[in-house]
Amino acid sequence: MDKLKLGFALTGSFCTLERVLEEMSQICPEKYEITPILSPIVASESTRFLEKDELFSRLSMITAKKPITTIKEAEPIGPKKLFDAMVVAPCTGNTLSKLALGITDTSVTMAVKAALRNEIPIVIAPSTNDALGASAKSIGLLLNTKNVYFVPFSQDAPDSKHRSMVADFSLIEDTLEKALEGVQIQPIIK
Ligand SMILES: Cc1cc2nc3c(=O)[nH]c(=O)nc-3n(C[C@H](O)[C@H](O)[C@H](O)COP(=O)(O)O)c2cc1C
Repeated sequence: MDKLKLGFALTGSFCTLERVLEEMSQICPEKYEITPILSPIVASESTRFLEKDELFSRLSMITAKKPITTIKEAEPIGPKKLFDAMVVAPCTGNTLSKLALGITDTSVTMAVKAALRNEIPIVIAPSTNDALGASAKSIGLLLNTKNVYFVPFSQDAPDSKHRSMVADFSLIEDTLEKALEGVQIQPIIK
């Protein structure tokens, strides 16, 4: 059986990148061929959470692919039908809002636009301090968007970060499996 081609986008929720890399490395290699896509800040910045060179070497070990890092590199995803599904994990408040409004000014938003054009499933794993604030309306719009599915998410620190929510990254592959059947995994809010 041919492997499913999966575009896996990482955006700038730096504190969760390590966790997402762990999950990415667990995604069934017999079933999926993964191409990483990095938002500009992820492709260019080291932080206290992860050095940029470490990220690139980990991605190379997991996927054996060079990441897509520019709008120009992401553009062929649409016309050449490069993917069967896409994951955006972690997905920042910034990228959530752009996706909700159809703004296409990064490698990741370009890749999602291409995926929407081809009507393939897009799985979003949010991680943002303003999920119950400024990003709530973006999440609402995307929950109501065809071919968009959410990795279940919950408040991660209700006492100290009142509006923060983070996906349960361990459910990325399960959410993807369901999304490929056209079904949103439940419960969405954990
Ligand atoms: C160390 C660090 C951690 C961050 N963590 C988050 C986060 O968890 N969630 C979020 O929405 N933004 C976070 N940000 C802010 C985003 O990186 C910023 O909004 C950026 O413009 C996102 O761009 P992108 O969505 O294209 O990746 C963080 C920034 C830094 C420097």
